[in-house]
Amino acid sequence: MERGHLLNKRILFMTGKGGAGKTTLAAALAVAARDRGKRVCLVGVGQSPNLCFIFSRDIPVYVETPVEKNLTAFTLDPYKALEEYVGLQLRVETAARMILSNRLIHYFMQAAPGWRELVTLGKIWHLHQLPASGGRALKFDIIVVDAPATGHGLSFLRVPSIFMNIIRFGPMQSQTFDVQSMLTDKARTAVCVASTLEEMPVNEAMQVLETVLTPLGMGLGVVFANSVISPLFNGQGRAEYETLRADTRAMEVLAGLFPDSGASLFNAAEEREKRAVQSRDYLEILENQKHAPVIRIPHQYPGRVDLSGVKKIADIINAALDREA
Ligand SMILES: Nc1ncnc2c1ncn2[C@@H]1O[C@H](COP(=O)(O)OP(=O)(O)OP(=O)(O)O)[C@@H](O)[C@H]1O
Ligand SMILES: [Mg+2]
Repeated sequence: MERGHLLNKRILFMTGKGGAGKTTLAAALAVAARDRGKRVCLVGVGQSPNLCFIFSRDIPVYVETPVEKNLTAFTLDPYKALEEYVGLQLRVETAARMILSNRLIHYFMQAAPGWRELVTLGKIWHLHQLPASGGRALKFDIIVVDAPATGHGLSFLRVPSIFMNIIRFGPMQSQTFDVQSMLTDKARTAVCVASTLEEMPVNEAMQVLETVLTPLGMGLGVVFANSVISPLFNGQGRAEYETLRADTRAMEVLAGLFPDSGASLFNAAEEREKRAVQSRDYLEILENQKHAPVIRIPHQYPGRVDLSGVKKIADIINAALDREA
């Protein structure tokens, strides 16, 4: 890991292929940081039904919503961020709203590439600088961002460097510079990658690690090998299982005892074994790369992770980070 403990950074981005567990793991990282005494802001980019499910509550767009002790959730919407930004520049919010609701400007914004990403990152920069009321310097010690899925997530992180070459003067230029400095400051910011142990997510994770982040100049945090399925049997258990399976008499007795479920029990066991073997091969690929340490997150049964599951994963993360240190 680059320079210092992961949870001592100021901003963590969680990225990875769609469905790889970004929201679950971003929530778990946020809880893990909170459990270490940090005041945390968990930022979802765009609406996230899973975040609402995890915290069993609505998280209205653009409202800092306390969801747990020392843990605030925030759903970031680029239009709202732009409105806030223009309002701050003009110092009048209603004027900002009037300008932005102008039809011509609306059309222009639909077509203009990159502004959504830029204002979104600008708002994240703003959140990490927010002063606290009463004594402490900063409102949040750490911002955990549940970033968009890899394809889009990477262009999302690349936008400020592109804009740096386009905008050459004015307030936008210095703000773009601030955002880019935040992204590339490895002491402050790190990108974490989530991957389930299947071909496509692992390929995407490797691509992020090998090609994209290094040229972007950003720091890497950890790779989460998510939903690891452990084998059902050890060596001896496997041999006993095979013997039982080959014993016709035993199978007849079993079929007599469980006429409905006997066969499906064996099928389920074999299916799980197949997944465990596949899981092991992809885990090896992730663990053999040298860019970032890997934290294994076991598959949580029955498969939809609620707050108690997220807290279990947070404990796994903290234990792994302690071993790492
Ligand atoms: N370790 C795990 N064990 C079991 N289920 C998991 C695990 N991690 C995530 N899940 C489940 O997988 C589903 C997808 O997870 P999540 O919403 O976190 O993924 P995502 O990458 O944010 O998806 P999207 O790209 O759609 O935003 C959810 O139902 C979640 O509860
Ligand atoms: Mg998600």
